Amino acid sequence: MAKISFICATKIQHNMKFFIDTANLAQIKEANDLGILDGVTTNPSLMAKEGIKGDAAVMQHYKDICALVDGDVSAEVIATDYEGMIKEGEALAALHKNIVVKIPMIKDGIKAIKYFSGKGIKTNCTLVFSAGQAILAAKAGATYISPFVGRLDDISFDGMELIAQISHIFSVQGYETEILAASIRNPMHIVKSAEMGADIITSPLASILALLKHPLTDSGLAQFLADHQKLNA
Ligand code: E4P
Repeated sequence: MAKISFICATKIQHNMKFFIDTANLAQIKEANDLGILDGVTTNPSLMAKEGIKGDAAVMQHYKDICALVDGDVSAEVIATDYEGMIKEGEALAALHKNIVVKIPMIKDGIKAIKYFSGKGIKTNCTLVFSAGQAILAAKAGATYISPFVGRLDDISFDGMELIAQISHIFSVQGYETEILAASIRNPMHIVKSAEMGADIITSPLASILALLKHPLTDSGLAQFLADHQKLNA
């Protein structure tokens, strides 16, 4: 059992939400059809992967995603200056009531989060890699912060330790900002996020579906069906 430095048992939650981390409409539909999907996150790389080019196509794609899923849909701004982020964020928020403006963890991003928070527009502070960044985004009024678990693991930092640390801090301090564990790479990231107190995970479809898998489920079901067949042949 891995060492857990931060105990976050004080945080009371009803259940961890599942977002899908893709801009692929077929995968979003497949996850939604499972009946367990609470929302969607995208980023410019995921949009590019689907070949969505140009402002009009990007805006239409967000609308298409919102039409598929009844839940929050994070849409990321491209601007990195305050005025640009406000302009883009307002246009994104006007697309659909479920759009959450995704803003990078930079100085002007914090100012933009504070602005949108005052306007009642939901925000997701992305590219969070430290507890200090999480505190700053929460203080500015971010609806969600996205710590990137997998990218931390990639450079030999423990992404799950960060989720546990932020969960502990938010519980102690009473921040309402929700912890959206991002950069999920495998089903254990999802299980550990639940254990560490994440409010939400955003995951590729493959890692969500991998939660289904257990060899004893497969062999057990095969045996049940074979025994049934023997008596009913
Ligand atoms: C979601 O909000 C993030 O942009 C995403 O999870 C990043 O994932 P990656 O590290 O696999 O690119």
